[in-house]
This record gives sequence, structure tokens and C-alpha cells, in this order.
Amino acid sequence: MSTQKLLLVAGARPNFMKVAPIYWAIDRGGRGRFQVELVHTGQHYDASMSDGFFRDLGLPEPDVNLGVGSASHAEQTARVMVGFEEVLLARRPDAVIVVGDVNSTAACALVATKIDYGAARGAHAPSCRTRPLLVHVEAGLRSRDRGMPEEINRIVTDAISDLLLTTCRDAAANLVAEGVLREKIRFVGNPMIDSLRRCLPEADRSSVLADLGLGEGAFGLCTLHRPANVDRRETLAEILRALGELAAEVPILLPLHPRTRARIAEFGLDDRLGEAGRAPAGASVRRSGVVAVAPLSYLEMLKAMKEARFVLTDSGGVQEETTALGVPCVTLRDSTERPVTVEEGTNVLAAIGRREIAEALAAARRKALAARMPALWDGAAGPRIVEALEEALSPRLESARTRAA
Ligand code: UD1
Repeated sequence: MSTQKLLLVAGARPNFMKVAPIYWAIDRGGRGRFQVELVHTGQHYDASMSDGFFRDLGLPEPDVNLGVGSASHAEQTARVMVGFEEVLLARRPDAVIVVGDVNSTAACALVATKIDYGAARGAHAPSCRTRPLLVHVEAGLRSRDRGMPEEINRIVTDAISDLLLTTCRDAAANLVAEGVLREKIRFVGNPMIDSLRRCLPEADRSSVLADLGLGEGAFGLCTLHRPANVDRRETLAEILRALGELAAEVPILLPLHPRTRARIAEFGLDDRLGEAGRAPAGASVRRSGVVAVAPLSYLEMLKAMKEARFVLTDSGGVQEETTALGVPCVTLRDSTERPVTVEEGTNVLAAIGRREIAEALAAARRKALAARMPALWDGAAGPRIVEALEEALSPRLESARTRAA
């Protein structure tokens, strides 16, 4: 059987821990059958948001970096599309694998389904394939909040994917309700948990907490970056006020996403963070208060999540990671696309406010005592994804697909 070429796409911080297990599984078991290349769109580019994650996850340098950088949604999406079209025409992969729900995910998905290898060459394509198979990992998550840019990216990507790989059981029903054929959907489990399990022993050796003067189990951890929470002055000020009040009892470690740091400066809210908030990176040793630091590396973040007394977040991935670690989590949003973390895990949604957060924290602590690991969050999603790829790219299914096209 000839080798088939796969392009694995990552663009932003939460993508890297999802592509890594697929890369490892192909590297370990799929070599010979598959040749894999990594495409980084460059949506995230700071070392602390990108390169450090490649290092922590043992990923090689990307084969291609489109270097698109930051811009408006339209411009960023367009830049990724233009760059990725060139990559596809030059490399002609058999499959494109996109993960998650960031702008790069939807942009590359759109290009992969519309490209025509044959027409673009002005000649017959060398194989019967005229475009790559489009595979979406983490398909079917829905917050039902179309005000979130990620929800639009999820809907668009799922509507046009050929193979939809899901991380939790509820995702398939969302897809079927939107008209996706059942035979395109496969429940493979959560690759983020593969990364977590593989990297936890090394993360445990991280000195990040000692360096910050934080004791294990003696601090809360908070991550914030959703536009709905940080792009409006009143909302951000309210969240920081609630954090300040909570932090009077227990220190709260706040790694600042670049978007959040920029908004805090723009809105003149630096004083809400105390001294550490004004430091460009690093933090002072404190017994209470908000300890604002630069973004943590993947390993440092795992260590901080594992040892935190509780986590406050508006991230999607952190909701899953805290459930896997059994750590109480309060999500500062009114919806989640990851209901399994609420139904089976340690997650509770909360409105912004000192009282609301305190009540949700108490509920999350109770939940953590009875939480269970969601199905197929077992560290073996990567190999199952490769199995699904082998099946979807088998010559039998390929020729059936070509006949149907
Ligand atoms: C993006 C994703 C979001 C994901 C988040 C994780 C979309 C629509 N949003 O949001 O789903 O949860 O990443 O971090 O794709 N910036 C830097 N350095 C970087 C990257 C960004 O300074 O390496 C700054 C820029 O000022 C940029 C801002 O952060 O304008 C926002 O970055 P962007 O990628 O547009 O969105 P995120 O908020 O990071």
C-alpha cells in the first residue's frame, strides 16, 4: 500500500495539546502507512503561547509556518486561507486534520473542502483524489451561544467535514441534529487527556509553584481570556473585583493571556491586580492577593492546575483538564460546550460576582468528591484517531467515496 500524506493543522495555544497525541500515534504506529506534516498557521506566535508548547509536548518544529499573526477575525481568517491554499496545492495531502474551534480551524477547513487539485494544475490530477479528506477532531461541541466566535467556527467546520471525531458522547447528537450523517461520526475520546497523562510526571517536577511562593493546595488558579469577559471594561472590572475579594482569603494565581493583559492596561485596571499586576512577568511572593504572571508553559500550567485548591476559568480546555485531575472548577460563563464536565466532572458554571462564585465553588468542591472520568478520556484517543484515519483512507472506502462524488 502506498504511503498517504496527512497535514496536521495547529494555530493557537489550545490546539497544540490536541495535535500532539495524533502526531505521536502516527509517529509510533502509523509510519509507513502515513507521512505526516505539521502546519502551524501562526495565529499564536509569542514564545509563551506557541514555541514553549511545542517543546513541552515534544513536537518537532512545524514543517510549515504561515505566520499569519493577529488581526481582525476577517483578516486573520483570510490570511490563513490564502496561505493554506498554497500549502495544499504544493503538498497535495490525502487528508487534512483540523482540531478544536479557533479561527485557523475553520479557515483551513474551508480551504480543504473547496480546493481542486486537478483544476488548479490545469491538467488531470495524478490520482483520483481531487481534494483532501477533511477530518475534524473535537467535532460536535456546542455552547448554543452564537455570540462566541468559536461556536461559529465549530458549526462551519462540522458542516463541511468528511470525518467527524468526537471527544464525548453528547457531541454526536448535536451533529445529527444539524443533519450530519451518522456514518461520518466516530467517538474517539479526548486527545487533550492523552497529552495531560503523558506530560503530568514531568509537570510534577516543575518548580513553578515554589518559585512563586505558592504552597500546594494553598492557592486558587484563574485563567481569563474570553472576549465576553475581558473586552468590556465593566465586566472585566467586576471580575477583577470579585477576584480581589476571594484573594483576601487565599492567593489567586492569574497567568495573564495577552488579550487580557492588553485590556487591563487599556481600561486602566492595573491597580486591581496589586503590585504583581504591573510587573511585566513573574510575580512577588505573597500570602494573599492576586498573583498576576505571564502565561505559563504547558507543564507549569498542568502543575498549577493539579495543585490548585480550585480553578476559576473561562477556557474550554481547562474545564476538561480540571475534570480529568479531579480539581474543583468554576467556569465564569453562562454556557458551556462541554456539558460532560458539569454532568460527570468537577465543573460548575457561575455568574460573575463574589457571592455567585463562592456558592459555585462550594458546589464544585462537593462535585469533585463524586466526579468520574468521562468515557474514553483514557489517554488512548491518539491511537483511536489514527485507526479512524486508516479506516477512512482505506482504498475500499476511498473508491466508494470517489464513485459517489
Ligand atoms: C484564540 C481563540 C480562542 C482560544 C484562545 C486561546 C479564535 C477566534 N479565538 O483567542 O478560541 O480559546 O485563542 O488562547 O480563534 N496575542 C499576542 N500574542 C500571541 C497571540 C495573541 O500578543 O501569540 C494578542 C494579540 O494582541 C491578539 C490578541 O492576543 O490581538 C488575541 O489573539 P487572537 O488569536 O485573536 O485571539 P485569542 O483571544 O487568543
